[in-house]
Amino acid sequence: MTQSLRSEDRPGSRPHPTLPGYYGRAEQRRGFVRDLFNHTAPDYERVERLLALGSGPWYRRRALTRAGLVSGMQVLDVAMGTGLVAREAARLAGGPGQVIGLDPSIGMLAEARRALALQAILGRAEQLPVRADAFDFLSMGYALRHVADLDSTFREYFRVLKPGGRVCLLEITRPRGRLALLLLRLYMKGVVPTVARLVTRHRETARLMEYYWDTIAACVPPETILAALARAGFADVQRHTELGIFSAYTGVKPL
Ligand SMILES: C[S@@+](CC[C@H](N)C(=O)[O-])C[C@H]1O[C@@H](n2cnc3c(N)ncnc32)[C@H](O)[C@@H]1O
Repeated sequence: MTQSLRSEDRPGSRPHPTLPGYYGRAEQRRGFVRDLFNHTAPDYERVERLLALGSGPWYRRRALTRAGLVSGMQVLDVAMGTGLVAREAARLAGGPGQVIGLDPSIGMLAEARRALALQAILGRAEQLPVRADAFDFLSMGYALRHVADLDSTFREYFRVLKPGGRVCLLEITRPRGRLALLLLRLYMKGVVPTVARLVTRHRETARLMEYYWDTIAACVPPETILAALARAGFADVQRHTELGIFSAYTGVKPL
């Protein structure tokens, strides 16, 4: 019998290996992540505001501008969550009508729609339910660690962008220096979950923040992400960093 590997089982282009402290097998990851974000959606922005290390609306807007988002562009914001990137994209592109947001968490989509009346669709980055060559700009904020497979995700991004279209992926990267790594680990794994326990309504929110750090610590290095973008066909693939931990990966679909 021929058996083809599902992307969840193929270690090659996973953003991080299986994390047994959270789910047992690779195929359980997707349900675990969806439930985690569904349960914590009402708390997400409160935790983000308090503890985002400056990666709030201002940073998102700046990164989108630097990546070439201008008025009039049609934007797909993948992993929209509560809409922190989508809102900035709408401001830059000329209004909510210019942006479609996508997320697999119904809880997150409901929160996003509360703040901004834009078109929101349920879906996953690895299999976008949108037609080819439809968007000028595709953004994704802090969710690359949650996809099953970088190659299939980036092939989808390439497919849905128009020729000349741009991709902009924001991520937190594990610092290279040992001291910086230690300090960030203490902050993200110690301070953030403790504060989350104090200021939020759901126990799962502290767990989300622990998972947040563990996926950052286990994530493939930036070079692997850049190589996967290039493999998907993107040109002018680059990574812009701030403070050594805020990464913005960009690329262009050739004309
Ligand atoms: C940390 S939140 C980021 C939300 C928002 N982009 C921001 O900048 O604040 C991560 C989001 O990724 C979504 N997500 C998880 N797995 C995904 C997948 N396979 N495809 C697309 N989105 C996914 C989650 O539901 C969640 O809303």
